[in-house]
Amino acid sequence: MKTKFASLIIVVVICATAALIWAWQPVISAVGRAATSGQDPQLILRGQHIVALGDCMVCHTSKAGEPYAGGLPLRTPFGTIYTTNITPDPDTGIGSWSLEAFKRAIRYGVSRDGHLLYPAFPYIHYTQMSDTDIEAAYHYLMSRTPVSYMPPDNELLLPLRFRPLLAFWNLLYLRPGERPITPAADQQIERGRYLVNSLGHCASCHSALNVIGGEAKPALGGGSVDAWEAPALTALAHGRTPWTAEQLETYLRSGISAQHGAAKGPMRPVTDRLADASQADVAAIAKYVMSIQVAAAPSQQQTASGQPLPQQGAVLFAAACASCHSASAPMSMAARRPSLTLSRSVTADTPVNLIQTVLGGVPWTVPHSGIYMPPFADVLTDEQIASVAQFVRVDIGKRPPWLNLPQNITYARKEMLP
Ligand code: HEC
Ligand code: HEC
Ligand code: HEC
Repeated sequence: MKTKFASLIIVVVICATAALIWAWQPVISAVGRAATSGQDPQLILRGQHIVALGDCMVCHTSKAGEPYAGGLPLRTPFGTIYTTNITPDPDTGIGSWSLEAFKRAIRYGVSRDGHLLYPAFPYIHYTQMSDTDIEAAYHYLMSRTPVSYMPPDNELLLPLRFRPLLAFWNLLYLRPGERPITPAADQQIERGRYLVNSLGHCASCHSALNVIGGEAKPALGGGSVDAWEAPALTALAHGRTPWTAEQLETYLRSGISAQHGAAKGPMRPVTDRLADASQADVAAIAKYVMSIQVAAAPSQQQTASGQPLPQQGAVLFAAACASCHSASAPMSMAARRPSLTLSRSVTADTPVNLIQTVLGGVPWTVPHSGIYMPPFADVLTDEQIASVAQFVRVDIGKRPPWLNLPQNITYARKEMLP
């Protein structure tokens, strides 16, 4: 027993030493506050578009915090990671970072002082960015107002606090280097490919993750994030209401599609930011996504259970939801309001997105403030949510009832972000 334990310790020590040597990255020396005054305004504008496509603000801004100052908690199966301050503050942000240091962080996931960054920062996608796009993002961020703010310390499982271990993860999942736009038969689709795989990092939510947080194949085949379903982006052409590239572009730019519904949950901040990106780039993303559609996977649809629906669902819908969602409600008659029957949250095999929508509502955000639904988490009991969800599913959606509502509601409540 003792010798086994001793050899285990020796193995661990050897691995840790190997990781330390192998993961070692030099410090890149600090520079004085990077000068951006006098920078070309065209460059800053391009940087603004790049940063919008990359969602940098979504993760690097906490609930009540200043833009880009960090502190947003990201929950992972291994604990909570807080985003860093990427404003040009020299002490708490990246104000003393040279372009070289910034580029290394984006391409290799390494901080200026040489420590490896956690892949909650999607550098495995950003690594594909072109040099010029990284430079534009750098100059844009350096032109922001510096904010002095130190995010809280991460709360991670013990072995993962040892960052050199990330070198092993990088060996598996990081393929560093630019994948620039190359001449192709359709230049717009090629631009879309570049944007989806690099800046858009769509796969970090729309691909399944394995136990160590690596993205599973096929890419964009559907995943889950914060207890929401992120549907497959390779099966958009096959639903009951197939998407077109034009519909997808409208959805991505405006947060809502008259034929499919609104962007909710973790997708909402993505569309909020894409509203600031260039129209040509969002059109390219839509066209590329529609070019990677594959034959539909067989539906996991459960068979109808044949149970009569509780009357309670219809009554609750009339009281709590119909003022907005009935066909004659003022909201439904306003332009571009999708019918609930079209929403994937109603037609999907899993009820999680509908439950999440009822619990959390659709938040009031700039620039899409018109698309608002109040949260019902504190108003309805689990049983009431189950009955109204089943009513929407069966009576409005004309689909077989969900069998696993109570478990999913308990789960969604447990996972609800504070
Ligand atoms: C999905 C969330 C997410 C998005 C989107 C995101 N980041 Fe981050 N970023 C993080 C996290 C988390 C960290 C901290 C990782 C750590 O501490 O190991 C980080 C760290 C960084 C760092 C290193 C800072 C330091 O002090 O070491 C830089 C630079 C950075 N991000 C820039 C960007 C840019 C530029 C974008 C947009 C192109 C972006 N991030 C988008 C989550 C994100
Ligand atoms: C104050 C108005 C309002 C009320 C009340 C309301 N909703 Fe909503 N709901 C919205 C808006 C706005 C959206 C976003 C889609 C849109 O604009 O049509 C939405 C979206 C949804 C969606 C997702 C549809 C999509 O776009 O994918 C579902 C499901 C839903 N609501 C169910 C309910 C249920 C169930 C209730 C009652 C418990 C309810 N809503 C109450 C305004 C409301
Ligand atoms: C932070 C996680 C996240 C990222 C990043 C993300 N999505 Fe999503 N997306 C989701 C979630 C969750 C949903 C389901 C919510 C909903 O339908 O309202 C969704 C829904 C969608 C839908 C609607 C699908 C349907 O059938 O209703 C489309 C289309 C979509 N995303 C495209 C994209 C594209 C393109 C990108 C990259 C530019 C992207 N998403 C990036 C999380 C994400």
